[in-house]
Amino acid sequence: MIRLGDVVTDQHTQSCFDMGASGADRSGAPSIPVVVVADEHDPASAERAKRLAAELSVPLRELDEDGPASRLVLTATAERLELYDPAQRRCKPIVVDFQGGATGYRRTSLRSGKQPLARAVGFRGQRRSVLDATGGLGRDAFSLACLGGIVTIVERSPVLAAMLRDGLARAAACGDAGLREVVSRMTLIEGDACDVLNRMEERYAPDVVYVDPMYPPTHKSALVKNELRMLRSLVGTDPDAASLVELARRVALDRVVVKRHRHAPPLAGDPDTTYLGRRVRYDVHFCNRQ
Ligand SMILES: C[S@@+](CC[C@H](N)C(=O)[O-])C[C@H]1O[C@@H](n2cnc3c(N)ncnc32)[C@H](O)[C@@H]1O
Repeated sequence: MIRLGDVVTDQHTQSCFDMGASGADRSGAPSIPVVVVADEHDPASAERAKRLAAELSVPLRELDEDGPASRLVLTATAERLELYDPAQRRCKPIVVDFQGGATGYRRTSLRSGKQPLARAVGFRGQRRSVLDATGGLGRDAFSLACLGGIVTIVERSPVLAAMLRDGLARAAACGDAGLREVVSRMTLIEGDACDVLNRMEERYAPDVVYVDPMYPPTHKSALVKNELRMLRSLVGTDPDAASLVELARRVALDRVVVKRHRHAPPLAGDPDTTYLGRRVRYDVHFCNRQ
């Protein structure tokens, strides 16, 4: 049985609902083929790439080998997994990285509790359990954990789940004790959040369910646009997101928070309250089942 709120010291994941490599069974979108390659500069990564290709049931290719004209490449380097689109040469690979980049900034900026996300989830200093139903690259899940949440991430794309697993494992083994503490409160479930919520025993219901479905790119930077394009070609556009929110509203104890583009219509009826960020909006549906 899936338990929410478990504090884990060693990163572990559960893969309870096998769905094939795309994870797009319910997304209704064509998933672009993915191939795995090893890092050509690191002979040790060959074994890792082989295991990964078998795990994801996708072809293992040499870097220079011809594949389908349109495909994404998941590279197993010695340190991490990188996803890139060979058709977009100038686009940097996507990596799940809880150590570098904006991570440190997130950890400090979220401490004030004034950010719209912090206000939307309404933790107010208590340890609350959160089910992040749309894991993606784990950025919001990481923010939720920085805010003090005990976060269960659910991601249905096996490729993204593998990348999340990789990012969590690296962060759990890093030298930064503060970061290790944050990721020790993050657990990954590979599968569909609707299945997870449907099968959840009432006593394990999370305080908060967080939903951030894919939406079309708008006024974002070119970099984010490219990243979004790559993600969309992998996982589609989540047309089942409204039913996920409806289900989440029946399960969450306190509230469901839905992240939307600032000008997008609400996903599942009028929210009880909203919090505006610069580009996004958090719609909050209270459940009051506590
Ligand atoms: C916009 S991305 C989420 C980005 C994420 N919030 C972040 O900070 O990186 C949406 C993700 O949700 C996943 N997803 C959508 N519906 C899902 C469902 N019902 N169960 C599990 N994952 C789902 C998609 O595969 C995609 O990876």
